[in-house]
Amino acid sequence: MEMKAYLSELGRAVDSYLARCLHDSNVPPMLLEAMEYSLLAGGKRLRPALCLVWAEMFGARRDDILPAAAALECVHTYSLIHDDLPAMDNDDLRRGKPSSHKQFGEALAILAGDGLLTEAFGLLLSTKAPAEQVLQAGQRLALAAGVSGMVGGQTLDMQWTGQGQITLDDVSRMQDLKTGAMLQASCECGVILAGGTKADVQRASNYGIHIGRAFQIADDILDVTGDAKTMGKPAGSDEDKGKITYPSLIGVGPSREQAERFRDLAVQALEGLAGPQADFLRELAAYVVTRAS
Ligand code: IPE
Ligand code: IPE
Ligand code: MG
Ligand code: MG
Ligand code: MG
Repeated sequence: MEMKAYLSELGRAVDSYLARCLHDSNVPPMLLEAMEYSLLAGGKRLRPALCLVWAEMFGARRDDILPAAAALECVHTYSLIHDDLPAMDNDDLRRGKPSSHKQFGEALAILAGDGLLTEAFGLLLSTKAPAEQVLQAGQRLALAAGVSGMVGGQTLDMQWTGQGQITLDDVSRMQDLKTGAMLQASCECGVILAGGTKADVQRASNYGIHIGRAFQIADDILDVTGDAKTMGKPAGSDEDKGKITYPSLIGVGPSREQAERFRDLAVQALEGLAGPQADFLRELAAYVVTRAS
């Protein structure tokens, strides 16, 4: 199957699971509305897709892994809601719609993010896999989402905005945390939940960190070269805010070369793997660099 078709098939499975998973009679309707507003607004669903594909490669059934895949998307969506807040990137457009705080106000945007983060761990714990594997995946997600991962990276991003002394190595380290950690954990959780070996998890980890680097550099390039309508989020926001990015330090052309280098390293991590899932992952690595949104 072609990569785009496989990705939209996985996206549909994830979307239909996400549309059901937050419904509980105790959730205040306004909060449910705010959570679903961002969660069901589209999005490429890359993190759940990576989790599902790596899991399927090692023999897991898609339906069994969907709760974990949904959990990854909930954490990611929460990170986007909070990333857009006035106190952070102050961006008014996300997934083609007004950002959460524009639509619902800051208090509800913060709470929708809190809700999605917390629900994510409940979902992950309901994954149909042996308890030991679910435990390991939960630890992996906590590490990636938390202070040594995404939250830590977002902290460095904020701390370094407008600073003059930041090097390319610093930016790369920050991107590994704010973006790479979640993509890497998505790949690893798939293998862990499917019962893969330590070596298999290591391979997924290696693929994930490199695709993460390629992905965030491409995101920073798109902020310079892309258009808001296609991306569903503002263009030129990084420069406006004084963000330190690959393009701001070395320019667009050299940044693209770096993204391609990381794409190649991601593909190398798949050496020796064959079949539809491995083909998907190879094509996805290329897509991450060439995408327009
Ligand atoms: C945007 O992520 C935030 C970054 C880590 C750069 P995506 O580009 O995956 O956003 P969606 O999920 O498709 O909206
Ligand atoms: C954010 O990076 C990464 C997250 C952890 C949310 P960006 O701030 O560049 O993401 P966009 O461009 O707003 O999607
Ligand atoms: Mg940001
Ligand atoms: Mg942002
Ligand atoms: Mg960006």
